[in-house]
Amino acid sequence: MNPINHVAIIMDGNGRWGLKYKKSRNAGHKAGLNTVEKIIRETIKNKIKYLTLYAFSTENWKRPKKEINFLFSLLENFLVNKIDDLHKKNIRLKIIGLKRFTKKLNNLLIESEKKTSRNKRLQINLALNYGSKYELINAFKSLQKNNKQISEKNICKYLLTKNIPDPDILIRTGNTKRLSNFLLWQLAYSEIFFEKKLWPDFNEKDYNKIINKFKKIKRNYGNI
Ligand code: IPE
Ligand code: IPE
Ligand code: MG
Repeated sequence: MNPINHVAIIMDGNGRWGLKYKKSRNAGHKAGLNTVEKIIRETIKNKIKYLTLYAFSTENWKRPKKEINFLFSLLENFLVNKIDDLHKKNIRLKIIGLKRFTKKLNNLLIESEKKTSRNKRLQINLALNYGSKYELINAFKSLQKNNKQISEKNICKYLLTKNIPDPDILIRTGNTKRLSNFLLWQLAYSEIFFEKKLWPDFNEKDYNKIINKFKKIKRNYGNI
């Protein structure tokens, strides 16, 4: 049985769900937040140490301002209302991505990271204004600047996921089979599960099905 240290999720399909059931993409984003809470609980139950959630990509700035503002207001509310609860549950929150938001949100993110920085039960990496190509370019530039050799080990040290094991499992909901600039380096040997359901419809049962399937996979890493 394969151990699971790290699950990464591309939470896709909120907009389509919202349009289908509530005639509003934003309603889908709101509903998606309930799934986030369910999956956090289930990740803890499964004793998984790292959960990385793709919440906003560097490309998502192309979306209408109204939708972007709504997404960040949802996040702000979530942090204000839930960070104490996460802290009590011994959960660490880490942001991977560039904190280039409003001053208020930037500060909230920094405070939340600081408050939970010593928590050990589960680390949630929130990929926010995250892009894998940007992350890699940045790592190469830093290596060059510091006169370091370009090696696998050194590249890992300059990624935003430094000190975090690579994902064992990648899940993308929303019936789309692409990576959308997510963890291109770190997913080299992850087991990938594309899920037809839209993110707000994804539930504990779907998640556990994937986990159980993963446990039985023979991971070769090039070997036989
Ligand atoms: C993913 O859902 C969440 C974010 C990108 C913030 P989408 O908003 O991409 O939903 P669809 O793919 O349009 O349905
Ligand atoms: C990927 O979803 C980003 C997040 C889930 C945050 P998108 O909906 O932005 O991906 P594309 O544009 O369809 O590839
Ligand atoms: Mg999408």
